Amino acid sequence: CSENGRPDASYTRWRWQPSCCDLPRFDAKGMLERLRNKRVVFVGDSIGRNQWESLLCMLSTAVPDKSSIYEINGRPITKHDGFFIFKFKDYNCTVEYYRSPFLVPQGHGPAGAPKFVKSTVRVDSMDWMSGRRKWRDADLLIFNSGHWWTKDKTIGWGAYFQEGNEVKMDMSVSDAYRRSIKTLFDWLQKNVNANKTQAIFRTYSPTHFRSVP
Ligand SMILES: *[C@@H]1O[C@H](CO)[C@@H](O)[C@H](O)[C@H]1NC(C)=O
Ligand SMILES: *[C@@H]1O[C@H](CO)[C@@H](O)[C@H](O)[C@H]1NC(C)=O
Repeated sequence: CSENGRPDASYTRWRWQPSCCDLPRFDAKGMLERLRNKRVVFVGDSIGRNQWESLLCMLSTAVPDKSSIYEINGRPITKHDGFFIFKFKDYNCTVEYYRSPFLVPQGHGPAGAPKFVKSTVRVDSMDWMSGRRKWRDADLLIFNSGHWWTKDKTIGWGAYFQEGNEVKMDMSVSDAYRRSIKTLFDWLQKNVNANKTQAIFRTYSPTHFRSVP
């Protein structure tokens, strides 16, 4: 945060205090040891991206040689679509982020859809990246979705919901969100070995942008 220009510093002394227990202080080296030969995969919107980037920063404090941490395709961190795979070479572990605000794919609608349908959100299939990049083999799989399931960010931009080959003109945003979570859970049940992979699903954060109350 300070490298990006945040002027205040009191947040560096925040401490998470659940009501019934004391959490130990974050131990970057300990976590890296536990992550040896493992993959941590974040999938979601910019909230997930922030959490992924924070975890990268927190883990990197335990690595003296920063050049041993790198994006495997040499991509710089920007806000563009796509994915980033950071490797901690000494631990052979990767901490990955896949941008997928809906977790399900968004693309062109089917042929013959009305003209105002600029795109569709396919609530009955997982994002295509899930297969190509083998999310299911991750050891820790952290999904987040919620902030894009608003009328403004979907129908307001001409993005309607699609099931099978059909654009569901009447499907509400909340029904579409519910349907997509079912798609995610069905996918987890079918593809993910719960003995190997721990999956976490996160929804909304209370605030995201400082300028918005
Ligand atoms: C590195 O980790 C991957 C799993 O992410 C594993 O398949 C591979 O065998 C590991 N390599 C070594 C050298 O242990
Ligand atoms: C997971 O572990 C249980 C108990 O050891 C075993 O019965 C089951 O077959 C395992 N499932 C997979 C997919 O490996």
